[in-house]
Amino acid sequence: MGFLNKALFFGGIYGIGVYAGAVAWTIRKDILRYESEPHLKPLVPEKRVVSIYNNIAEKYSKRITKEELFSGIYFLRFFHLRNAKGRVLEIGSGPGSNFSFYKWKQIQSLSLVEPSEEMHKLASSRAEKKVPESVHLKQYSDFEEVPKESSFDTIVQTFCLCSQEKAVESLNNAKEMLRPGGQILLIEHGQSKYGWLNKILNTYAESHYEDWGCVWNRNILELIEESNLELDSCKRYNFGTTYVIKAH
Ligand SMILES: C[S@@+](CC[C@H](N)C(=O)[O-])C[C@H]1O[C@@H](n2cnc3c(N)ncnc32)[C@H](O)[C@@H]1O
Repeated sequence: MGFLNKALFFGGIYGIGVYAGAVAWTIRKDILRYESEPHLKPLVPEKRVVSIYNNIAEKYSKRITKEELFSGIYFLRFFHLRNAKGRVLEIGSGPGSNFSFYKWKQIQSLSLVEPSEEMHKLASSRAEKKVPESVHLKQYSDFEEVPKESSFDTIVQTFCLCSQEKAVESLNNAKEMLRPGGQILLIEHGQSKYGWLNKILNTYAESHYEDWGCVWNRNILELIEESNLELDSCKRYNFGTTYVIKAH
């Protein structure tokens, strides 16, 4: 290695080290500040979350494709959602992120519940390309609009508990519309298994919520326990922050 290459190599390593140290120092400072303030209640999404999603719909839709390949979530969607079959209800369907993962041959109908108008529009245009004509597609902006007598074989919800003001109520509504023997497939994100990571999630939860409409430190298992759902399986990935759940 010539002198110039050596200088660039060690200079590069030094630069990365200094940068990583500065980031770690800032995070530590933010955590200490966060922990010195009183936090009486965990952060919960509110109604205005829908306007946040209206503002970020396009950005969200573009960004998740790349990020999910990198974090492996793409593959979790691939393996979990291929189990959806029959009459399917998807809650908080966003821009139609799951359309590429369904095995359409085994799906009879797809009903979508999505309160954000902008997300709704993106899902409609994606549906034109991705959802076969043989699948009966319905779009609702509120759970209340789904006919009460409906019954579904599969209910899907991905990355939605983080955005729902009444998350437990929504899980209970889903359970009521599940036919006996049906399945609820969830992929959610929330608290980690690791205390150090939860400290970071807690510290930046509020600013992440303002930017992305998502409370990323919710206790997912507690929400499920509070609901009427019965857990069949739960696997956790990404330091325990991503939850792949089958329930009924
Ligand atoms: C993080 S995005 C996830 C979108 C999509 N499921 C995905 O996997 O990419 C959360 C979605 O939940 C929707 N949402 C917020 N509150 C909701 C509620 N109470 N019921 C149903 N969906 C809701 C938001 O509008 C947003 O589209």
